[in-house]
Amino acid sequence: MFRSHTCGELRLEHVGQEVTLAGWVHRRRDHGPLIFIDLRDRYGITQVVFDASDQPEAHAVASEARSEYVLQIRGLVRARPPEAANPDLATGAIEVEGQAATVLNPARTPPIYIAKEGGEEEALRLKYRYLDLRRERMQHNLILRHRVIKFMRDFLDREGFLEIETPILIKSTPEGARDYLVPSRVHPGKFYALPQSPQQLKQLLMVAGYDKYFQIARCFRDEDLRADRQPEFTQLDMELSFVDQEDVLELIERLFTELCRAVVPQKKLVTPFRRLSYAEAIERYGSDKPDLRYELELVNLGPLLAATPFTVFRSALEHGGQVKGLRAPGLGGYSRKQLDELTELARAGGARGLAWAALPADGGEVRSSFARNLGPGELEAIVERLGGQPGDLLLIVADRPAVVAATLDKLRREIASRLGLADPNTLHFSWVLDFPLVEWNADEGRWDAVHHPFTAPQDADLPLLESDPGKVRAKAYDLVLNGYEVGGGSIRIHRRDIQQKLFALLGISPETAQAQFGHMLEAFEYGAPPHGGIAPGIDRIVMLLADESTIREVMAFPKTQQATDLMTSAPSSVDERQLKELHIAVRP
Ligand code: AMO
Repeated sequence: MFRSHTCGELRLEHVGQEVTLAGWVHRRRDHGPLIFIDLRDRYGITQVVFDASDQPEAHAVASEARSEYVLQIRGLVRARPPEAANPDLATGAIEVEGQAATVLNPARTPPIYIAKEGGEEEALRLKYRYLDLRRERMQHNLILRHRVIKFMRDFLDREGFLEIETPILIKSTPEGARDYLVPSRVHPGKFYALPQSPQQLKQLLMVAGYDKYFQIARCFRDEDLRADRQPEFTQLDMELSFVDQEDVLELIERLFTELCRAVVPQKKLVTPFRRLSYAEAIERYGSDKPDLRYELELVNLGPLLAATPFTVFRSALEHGGQVKGLRAPGLGGYSRKQLDELTELARAGGARGLAWAALPADGGEVRSSFARNLGPGELEAIVERLGGQPGDLLLIVADRPAVVAATLDKLRREIASRLGLADPNTLHFSWVLDFPLVEWNADEGRWDAVHHPFTAPQDADLPLLESDPGKVRAKAYDLVLNGYEVGGGSIRIHRRDIQQKLFALLGISPETAQAQFGHMLEAFEYGAPPHGGIAPGIDRIVMLLADESTIREVMAFPKTQQATDLMTSAPSSVDERQLKELHIAVRP
């Protein structure tokens, strides 16, 4: 028997028992004849005391031991004297009097401190991830992730869902990103794709009559990486038959409400989830994933300024653009340097500039980058419209609508962060609904699906499909949490004629549609039920529940922003023979 208890288990009630523990040397304090070792495993830490006068052999082993050695110790549990008790440690009321110790494995000096978090480059943590994962923070995150997934499985099992695996080697599915391809040895020149998501397969499971499907599904996308994007990530992939949008929203809202209450009861959950249309989200927050923990709404100033002499504003309005603003409460005392920083931020996002007005707290003169260009009364009208109070800073952007939205979204988040408006303890979910079905891709000169090509148009907008496709709204919905898109889904097209119409709109020729999606079109002719689904992104959700700012912190073995694995050095070159077998020649 390697151990009788874990390192997190012993309490006062065990006093007097002889126990065997196994674990890693977390800390070692050498006081000559007395050596204290904090022995650690994933359950906790137990203090073991070795006394040279009582147990010279065990003391000798302890004096050799260093950080991260793997030890097995045998000893007697005793109560710590009250002044030595450690209330921060679950086992802090006791200690183990070490009677025997065995080094199961020595360890080199670790390149990162396990007992002390932080300080080092992330690259070092990723190279030695197996050491980094020994730390409390990472353990906490991976255990939380386990709990989240376990809750989802149990909840959906209760709701009558079946967990069904789908293949990883599939035919390419267009989800908007680049595919990872796998060359076939057996079929020279042919490739499998790794799934960007199991989208087509889950729809085919509905055609097959499985009614309620879910899967903890690994997805692969070769796209530019960010803090909340990895080349492989995990979705709670779901699909249901005979449902409409409301059924999916209701189910998911219930799932996440119960999940948060069970897994992170210390957090404040805002219920019911607020619902916004896509148009409203862009209009009021400049984003289709607004952080609703704070308001800071964008205000349209266009109606006030149609005839302004200020050419920057007027010409934006005359050319189909917008003039919108944002009130930053209490920041009217900003220095020129601070205002330049905000202007830089606006420019970096593509805006030509930032118009600002700093309202003095004491009724002095307004400082402003643009007021001198305005007509009489216009500044007062702007201040009033934005609800400006003495001491506020007003920020205004004039540009194309997309630039205005993106810039003010960025400024809104920046201001909220500077003012500490986003309560880290609040979970504010919301639904963004009524997304457009397609958007114009000016580079390629064609319509692209906003969600994916299997998303159904809203019934009321069907007549517009040919006449004004950009106005057609989709039966698509995104789940948003604290400013992140944590899930997306839709009601699907289940009729061949409508699917073909959509492919045609997306510029996919009947031949290409047949070659790429023939199996879907055919399946729709064998009794496809109305169906729909959603895929919450597990990494992002766990990241937010764990108060982390990248999904790398909640994945055991993530990749870097350059899509490399620093621990195993993937991707790497392969044997010439392997390439030959795969009929592949690498171009220099
Ligand atoms: P979508 O592409 O919106 O929908 O993805 C769903 C959710 O997956 C998460 N996500 C990611 N997480 C980490 N890294 C990435 N690279 C990444 N990409 C996406 C996000 C996102 O909201 N098949 C459809 C779902 C459906 O229609 O049912 C799909 O994959 O949280």
